[in-house]
Amino acid sequence: MPKMTADWVWMDGRLVPWKDATLHVATECVLRGENVFEGERAYWSEEEGELFMFRHADHIRRLREGARIMRMSIPYSDAEIEAACISLIRACNYRSGIHFRPVVYFADGELTQYRPDEIRTGMFILALSMPSKDTLRTGVKSCVSTWRRNGDLSSPSRVKSGANYHNSRLAYIEARLNGFGPPIMLNNAGKVAEGPGACIMMMRQGRLVTPPVTADILESITRETLMELARAELGIEVVERDIDRSELYVCDEAFFCGSGAEVLPISSIDHYDLGDGTPGQVTRALQDLYFRAARGAIPKYRHWLTPVWGGAARAAAE
Ligand SMILES: Cc1ncc(COP(=O)(O)O)c(C=O)c1O
Repeated sequence: MPKMTADWVWMDGRLVPWKDATLHVATECVLRGENVFEGERAYWSEEEGELFMFRHADHIRRLREGARIMRMSIPYSDAEIEAACISLIRACNYRSGIHFRPVVYFADGELTQYRPDEIRTGMFILALSMPSKDTLRTGVKSCVSTWRRNGDLSSPSRVKSGANYHNSRLAYIEARLNGFGPPIMLNNAGKVAEGPGACIMMMRQGRLVTPPVTADILESITRETLMELARAELGIEVVERDIDRSELYVCDEAFFCGSGAEVLPISSIDHYDLGDGTPGQVTRALQDLYFRAARGAIPKYRHWLTPVWGGAARAAAE
């Protein structure tokens, strides 16, 4: 595993060296996981000498929705957050693929406090170098977790909060102890929800099927992206509907999708091989489209991209 580190962290309005980016142990963020965050990627285009943040505006919209549900007031505008991300990525001098994480958090206070005059809402951003994993080529062996995805009436999966990943951790570790890669979690209704850190899609009888946003999933931006690419570029019918556990065992292909996971093929589920056990044709076609769109190679999807260097990288290299 690459060590989690970087030269700089953006914290509460300024760039600070990695070792100084600390929060007190008595904050609600530390004590009870009271934060809402985003996981975004930026992709390097060799042709353009540019690093592109992928669907950044959509991530910040979701961050605001999650914060609203948690009644957190984010003390920065969208433009300030974008500028903060860019200043951090530039300070770290990244010229290859990265994963970055804007996090809003509650500072010192009580569990009952939420108004800006009673508890401070802070923000920090981490940006880490993160190349794609080898498993994008090989696929992962998955299983169905015995842990249920946290439900909308208890701890909404729609909110990307640190505390929700307690549920993910239980599922990841159980799967790992049992010899599997990332598991698939069912919701409290017993239908397929998502992975602990990614959404899931399957190919069945020529259609791309994925659980609806009401199935206790995070409203994934990668899922939206792939649905659009599948329809527009591959002409595949995409269906959002509940998926039964047993359907997982008879589908032709399946993959996880997420900013971190990217388009991660699933080779088997509970020891049922999917197809011939190697990444399927549609999965590979979607991987290819996704990475080309994210690197700016498809003009139609350039509106998803925000350049970090804005020509500065090329100028520096020349
Ligand atoms: C639980 C969970 N579901 C789904 C996703 C995928 O969301 P997105 O595509 O917006 O990154 C993530 C994060 O990547 C996640 O942590």
